Amino acid sequence: MRMTDRLKTLASELAEKDLPSLAASRQGKTLDAAGWHINLSRQYLNETAESALSDFAVSTDMSGAIARLFAGEHVNSSEDRPAMHWALRLPPGKGEGLSAEISASLEPVFKFADDVRNGDKLPGLKTILHVGIGGSDLGPRLLYDAFAHTFGAEIEVRFVSNIDPLDLSRALEGIDPATTLVTGISKSFSTEETKYNLDRVRDWLKAGIGDQWPHHLAIVTANPDKANAWLGIESDQLFGMADSIGGRFSLWSAGSLSCVIAFGSEWFRSVLAGAHAMDEHFRTADLSENVPLQLALIDYWNMTIRDTASEMVLAYSNALRLMPAYLQQLLLESNGKLVSPDGKPVSGRTIIGHWGGEGTIGQHSYHQWLHQGSSDIAAEFIIATTPEADELGSKALVAHALAQAEVLSNGYQYDDVLTTEPGVDPAIACQKVIPGGKPSMIFACRDFGPEAFGALIAMYEHRVYAGGVLWGINSFDQWGVERGKVQAGRIKSALLEGGDNPDPVTNAMVDFFR
Ligand code: F6P
Repeated sequence: MRMTDRLKTLASELAEKDLPSLAASRQGKTLDAAGWHINLSRQYLNETAESALSDFAVSTDMSGAIARLFAGEHVNSSEDRPAMHWALRLPPGKGEGLSAEISASLEPVFKFADDVRNGDKLPGLKTILHVGIGGSDLGPRLLYDAFAHTFGAEIEVRFVSNIDPLDLSRALEGIDPATTLVTGISKSFSTEETKYNLDRVRDWLKAGIGDQWPHHLAIVTANPDKANAWLGIESDQLFGMADSIGGRFSLWSAGSLSCVIAFGSEWFRSVLAGAHAMDEHFRTADLSENVPLQLALIDYWNMTIRDTASEMVLAYSNALRLMPAYLQQLLLESNGKLVSPDGKPVSGRTIIGHWGGEGTIGQHSYHQWLHQGSSDIAAEFIIATTPEADELGSKALVAHALAQAEVLSNGYQYDDVLTTEPGVDPAIACQKVIPGGKPSMIFACRDFGPEAFGALIAMYEHRVYAGGVLWGINSFDQWGVERGKVQAGRIKSALLEGGDNPDPVTNAMVDFFR
C-alpha cells in the first residue's frame, strides 16, 4: 500500500474516535525548544499513525534535507540558490565561507544603527519611515509592533507598504522631514509599490530639506546598481541583502534596519540568538522530538490527509497580534504550490488557508463560527506572557486561550446542556450544543521577549521548510505572484492611456474607472 494511502486509512479510522479521549491518551505529547513549551495532545493521532507519519518523513530523506539546508546547498532549486536566512543568526565569529559572509553583513547595519542612536548621525531623529512590502515589510512591522511598547522606543517607526496613495499620506501625517529617516527596503529594487512610495517620499524629503535629502534616506537591497541609479548619487547609506535570503525569510537581515535603530543592536542580537537556538534544535534534535518537523507532520496530517478546511492562528498575545498577517506570507507564499521542482504535479493538497487574529478579540467575532460553524478547522494557539505583566489580566488571557482550545476539542454536548441548565427548552438546548472535535496545538511561553520572539519565528520558518520537503515542493520561490504583476502593468497602461483589453470584464471595469 502506498504510504499516503496507509495514512488516509489510519486517518479515517481515527476520525471515528472521540478527540478528548485521544487527547487524554496522548497526555505526554509535549515538546520544549528554545523557551517554548508546545502541547500537541489534541490531534486525531495515536501511536500507529505517528509512527506511519515518521516513516513518511524518513522516506522523504528529512534528515538529509535538514543537513542540506544548513550546509548551504541549493535547496531553492528553481532559482539555483541556497536558503541562508539561518546564517544571519550565527553567533559572531561562527560560520565559514558564505555563511560567515552573510553573518558579517549585519556589522555595517549595527554600526549605522549605533551611530544614529548615539547621535553621531542624524542628531534629533524622531521618526523612521519604513518603506517596503511583503517580506520587506511584514517582518519588521511585526517586530516593531511586538516590542515598541515594552522597549519604549524613543524613535517612532512608521510603516508604508501599499500602493494606495492614502497609505503614504497617512504615514507622513505630522512628521517632519528634518527629523525623519526613510528606510527603503526592497530586495529586488523593482517592486512597483515600493518604488512608487520611494519616489513620493524622496520628493517629500527634497521639498522639506533640500539637498540634505540623501542623509535622510537609507536603502537596503540586493540590487545596488538599480538603487544607485535611482538615488543618482553615491550613498554611504546603502546596505546589502544577500540573494540567498528570500524576502519572507529576511526579518533577520538589514531589512530590519528601522527596528535595529529603534531598539538597538544588542536587542537585535538577542532576537538573532533566540532564532539561532531554534536553528540548533532543528539541526540536531532527533526527528521524534524535532519541533518544526513534528509541526510540519501535523500540518501534513491535517491538511493533506484529513482535508481540514482552514487553519486558525490565534495569538493570545497583544505583542503578537500581527502574527496572522506575517504568517500568511511566510506559510502561504512558501508552500502554496501545485508542482514539484521537476515540474510534476504534487499528489494531494499542499498548505491550506491560514487566518486568525488576536485573542480575546476574535472570541467576540469569528469564534462563533469556529465553535458552531460547519467547516472543519484546526487551530494553533500562541500564548505568550511576561512575568512583568499585570497578573490578573495575563492570567485571564491564558484562561481564555485554554478555554477556547478546550471547547474546540470537547464541545458542549446536549446532555451537558441539560445537566448544567435543568429545565432548559429543548430547542434552545439544541442551539447551545457545540460539537467539538476540532484539533489544536498550543505554543506557550512564560517569559516572552526578544529571544522567544526569534525562536518562535525560526520555528515557523523551519516548519515551512520541513512541510515543503514532505509535500515535495520548493518553499523558497514564488512564481505564482508574478503573473498578476504583469497583468497589472498592462491594465495600468489601459487606465492611463486607453486601449483595449482582451478580457471583457476587465475592459468594462477599465471603462468605468476612466
Ligand atoms: O510578492 C512577491 C514578493 O516578491 C515577495 O516575495 C517579497 O517579499 C515582496 O514581493 C517584496 O519584494 P522586494 O523586497 O524585492 O521589494
